[in-house]
Amino acid sequence: MSHRDSDLIGLIAVVGLSLRFPGGANDLPSFWNLLNQARCVSQDFPVNRLNADSMYWPARVRGGHFLNEDADGTCTAFDAPFFDLSAVEAASMDPQQRLLLEASYTALENGISKLRGHSLQRGLLEIGLASRVVNIADGASTDPGALTVLAFDIESPKPYLHGINADGLQNIQRILQNARSVLWLTKSTSKPEHGMATGLARAVNTEVNEYKPMRVTLEADSEPDEEQIQTLFRLIRQMLASPESRFEAEIEQRGGLFHIGRLQEDAACQKGIRERLSFKLECDLRWKDAPALKLTTQTPGLLESLCFVEDDAHSAPLPDNEVEVKVKAVGLNFKDGLAALGRLPIGTLGIECAGAVVRVGAAYQDSFQIGEWVCMLSIGAAFKPYARGKAHNVWRLPFDMSFVEAASMPTTFGTAWTGLVDLARLQKGENVLIHSGAGGTGQAAIHLSQYLGAEVFATVGSEHKRALLMAEYGIPADDHIFNSRDTSFSRGMKHATSGRGVDVVLNSLAGESLLASWESLAPYRRFIELGKKDILDNAGLPMLPFVRHATFSALDWSVWIVERPAHSLQTMETILRLFQQGILHPSRPVHVCPISDVHKAFSAMADGKTSGKTVLTISPEAIVPTITTRHPTYTFSADATYVLAGAFGGIGRCITRWLVERGARNLLLLSRSGPSTPAAHELVESLRANEVTIQTPPSNIADATALRLTLQNSRTSLPPIRGCIQAAMVLHDTPFTHMQHAQWRAAVDPKVSGSWNLHTHLQGLTFFVRLSSPGPSPGSSASTANPTTPPGIPSRIAWRDTA
Ligand SMILES: NC(=O)c1ccc[n+]([C@@H]2O[C@H](COP(=O)([O-])OP(=O)(O)OC[C@H]3O[C@@H](n4cnc5c(N)ncnc54)[C@H](OP(=O)(O)O)[C@@H]3O)[C@@H](O)[C@H]2O)c1
Repeated sequence: MSHRDSDLIGLIAVVGLSLRFPGGANDLPSFWNLLNQARCVSQDFPVNRLNADSMYWPARVRGGHFLNEDADGTCTAFDAPFFDLSAVEAASMDPQQRLLLEASYTALENGISKLRGHSLQRGLLEIGLASRVVNIADGASTDPGALTVLAFDIESPKPYLHGINADGLQNIQRILQNARSVLWLTKSTSKPEHGMATGLARAVNTEVNEYKPMRVTLEADSEPDEEQIQTLFRLIRQMLASPESRFEAEIEQRGGLFHIGRLQEDAACQKGIRERLSFKLECDLRWKDAPALKLTTQTPGLLESLCFVEDDAHSAPLPDNEVEVKVKAVGLNFKDGLAALGRLPIGTLGIECAGAVVRVGAAYQDSFQIGEWVCMLSIGAAFKPYARGKAHNVWRLPFDMSFVEAASMPTTFGTAWTGLVDLARLQKGENVLIHSGAGGTGQAAIHLSQYLGAEVFATVGSEHKRALLMAEYGIPADDHIFNSRDTSFSRGMKHATSGRGVDVVLNSLAGESLLASWESLAPYRRFIELGKKDILDNAGLPMLPFVRHATFSALDWSVWIVERPAHSLQTMETILRLFQQGILHPSRPVHVCPISDVHKAFSAMADGKTSGKTVLTISPEAIVPTITTRHPTYTFSADATYVLAGAFGGIGRCITRWLVERGARNLLLLSRSGPSTPAAHELVESLRANEVTIQTPPSNIADATALRLTLQNSRTSLPPIRGCIQAAMVLHDTPFTHMQHAQWRAAVDPKVSGSWNLHTHLQGLTFFVRLSSPGPSPGSSASTANPTTPPGIPSRIAWRDTA
């Protein structure tokens, strides 16, 4: 060194350095360790790795000191795009040149970051806040002190946690165990590897009980100014003053500003997610724009919960013995009201309707014409745009019968006829007591009884209904119409029949009223029970009237027509003929409601104040309340391959089936042990039986070489890979400070290296999905060893997103 040179020495400052030595020594401390251990790290020239002929003269090279590149000589560890190089260019470069590029950049970054992090750390020491600043990469342990600052990746550009060895891990564990309070100083860069320190800090935060660590993350390219440093000091003092109290546990520098975390609901985002995830959509729809629907009640008992839902049965083939009708009008029955109120175990609603035939089952092609006007019994399924019924329960309408009239009549008149004619055998000159006489069935029964020549007694619940029966059917009010709301009708009947009683009772009352009616029977007479309540309650019936040869029959016409189709067909044909002849007419008044008033119609029926019959009419413009299923529009291509890592775990198996349900036909399912469990085996076999091409090579995704070979092999026999889902995971439930290095590796490798390897080897995808779990954030708890959110995963995803 000349005299002139020595003058300059004081002006030289080494601010950054970088090393690459064999044996994995990439910085001064690890190089020093290497020398200390006196390990020989030279090896023969790896002719299988390097194209020696093009670069060296092997005859003259007796040995070499070759740095750790990928074992197979590829340059996947070299970040070609970072240096603006293509992968092909990088592969053809002299490896020394690649290393020189990396080392030069590292030295520059090291120098810059040293200058940046310096003022904060020095300041902490100078003002006595920190007893010690531990540059984690120095490999030093620490003495307990007021505050231990763990500086991750600040001084060194090499991410300390990435590929950390057992000594390094123990180093952090020792520091955390000895410290009384800890400040994690981490660096945010675009390199995902640096994110691991943040992830670990968060996880440890939830595990340490003695103190709460604080984390400050500085931007790599933005130095905190003096004011910010003073703010940080103040926050750190707060933490030290009362470690148990609340303090800002995480401070991140972004865009030159310090940020603290607050959980806040993002309503728009929540709504978007809910809409995508929730397959149910509640809205009012125009009848003509809605899919095939059916009326149902979401909460039995709550009439407000009545709504139309999609009718899945509509897409099923029409059975041979059924007819499908485009519904124009639906008759509302008492039974619908009971079902909606949850008093009958029926899911869907509607019993009778009228409309035009749209489809005819194969066995009845000759019986019905498309477009013919019919009325139909469609038990529990009439409130639909397209209702189906057994062909023997579909009747062609007389020429001048409207849809409203037709929908108003089958159940009420069918029930009344079967009860009075078939069961009670009501004769001319006999008398009959008809309960709830102003209702649909009551009026039909009165009408038929009068047609048959019987004397009618009736009960009603209001003066208005009494007036209706007098006006419509000429029944004398004083001694023939009684109150249905108490049992006084029994006395009235006895009085009106001079103590004899009635020949037939058509009963729909329950409890005491039923008993009073039962006791109103004359000898040898018939009691027809239309109600359900006492039967379903299994209530008792006094036996004494049987001494007088009474008959008790119960009728459920909706069952009768199913089990006695020929009989009900005949009944309805008779009734329709009587309508056609003008002998019978619908129960009056007919309340015609648009289908959009379905809630109102059911509520009015539940109030018990309606008389006559309610019919709901359907028009294409009607707006109805609906809950429809959103059908996801996404599908997977049958011409592509989809990779699923961790495919045989619980979630992986579900996702595999889901991919196939949505069209995927080629799958590469990765796991270390292949389909070794019965569940995995069953999955693979069942999908293969459905002509899905599945490859299940045992493959550890954390092993870059093994993964590359697996992917290479699959490419020769499967279509191009277009999507990847990473669901690989290993759980070890151990706190970080007690974790063995092997446990750390097992837990972190599939998530960190595995994800990275998949990312590196799979390009040109339409999606890359990385499964994780909600990560430990301030106030939440999670275990480091349960790496559902492994250190660094969010930053890796961000990295891929920006790549
Ligand atoms: N967000 C949430 O609420 C939530 C809840 C639960 C789970 N998750 C996430 O969902 C994912 C799957 O969970 P899971 O319950 O299905 O897990 P799991 O049942 O434990 O299955 C994990 C799978 O990963 C495979 N695997 C582990 N290491 C591997 C490696 N190096 N290479 C290839 N395959 C490897 C395992 O098979 P081998 O042992 O044969 O390799 C296993 O098939 C995880 O990422 C988890 O974090 C999220």
